[in-house]
Amino acid sequence: AGTVIRIAIDSDRCQGHARCAVRAPELFDVDDDQGKSIALVDTVPPGLREAADEAVETCPERAISLHDE
Ligand code: F3S
Repeated sequence: AGTVIRIAIDSDRCQGHARCAVRAPELFDVDDDQGKSIALVDTVPPGLREAADEAVETCPERAISLHDE
């Protein structure tokens, strides 16, 4: 069994830069009304760990974190 990795977005930190959604559109979208990133899935699907890591790295506000469970 693979490790379950939960996606967390800190809405207080997120400023809507949308780099996460550009880098990993399977995982993130920016809510038009709130101007905040939303996770499209609760946990990282198989094969998207690298994309998730890069989304974490690309956010200038450090609003995204991944948590092994
Ligand atoms: Fe927000 Fe960072 Fe994405 S500021 S919209 S989580 S790139």
